[in-house]
Amino acid sequence: MDQAGQQLWSAVDRYISEQLVPADPALDAAQRDSEAAGLPPIAVTPNQGRLLELLARMQGARAILELGTLGGYSTIWLARALAPGGRVVTVEAEPGFAEVARANIARAGCADAVELRVGKALEVLPELQAEGAGPFDLIFIDADKGNYPGYLEWSLQLSRPGTVIIGDNVVRDGAILEPDKPDPRTGDADLLGGVQRFYELLSSDPRVRATAIQTVGDKGHDGFALAIVEP
Ligand code: SAH
Ligand code: DHB
Ligand code: MG
Repeated sequence: MDQAGQQLWSAVDRYISEQLVPADPALDAAQRDSEAAGLPPIAVTPNQGRLLELLARMQGARAILELGTLGGYSTIWLARALAPGGRVVTVEAEPGFAEVARANIARAGCADAVELRVGKALEVLPELQAEGAGPFDLIFIDADKGNYPGYLEWSLQLSRPGTVIIGDNVVRDGAILEPDKPDPRTGDADLLGGVQRFYELLSSDPRVRATAIQTVGDKGHDGFALAIVEP
């Protein structure tokens, strides 16, 4: 994307966050320590974190599932939005990232409300089902994009009518229109094919009703999908 556009989007994101999302010591420290530990700077932005909080609160969520923890930044937003006694289960494949997340989540005072599972989500999800976890009230899919179709299928297994499912990064600078191209930011091949299949499933599976919204901001041009599980 052109540089002037990106600068403007970042400036507006800063404005929005300054106006509406006050600095928060634990969230700011989570961002700082994630960066210091060398984690990629791909967490949700503060105003997106607030959106996750609002969606979870609108939903009255007591059980939340997150795929892709990174340093726990979005996890903290979700944990703070839980109804009393609620719980977030979050899954991260990279043990080093999970270690950073664990410390960030503990400093935010959310350790008791968060269960962090280290492992590949496609391996952890069947374990969760076998343990009788769920149904979850809200599911945030934000791990490796190529596996979004599988994540959606498992999410439906772990849902109830009315469960809200959010999928991050479903536009990728418009590259979703050319799924054979590698992802513009990560260079990963065949990842957008997975996201396109994710759209197809959202469209064709009678168990969900969905939309997607493209966004611009500090993280460029991207978007998120929002779905509800049908009765
Ligand atoms: N939700 C985070 C950002 C997640 S970035 C936030 O907004 O703060 C995507 C994360 O998914 C990375 O940490 C990456 O290590 C993790 N990931 C990649 N493949 C995975 C897999 N197969 N299972 C679980 N996590 C995975
Ligand atoms: C990127 C952004 C994300 O939100 C994510 O989950 C993974 C990668 C990126 O911009 O590269
Ligand atoms: Mg993301």
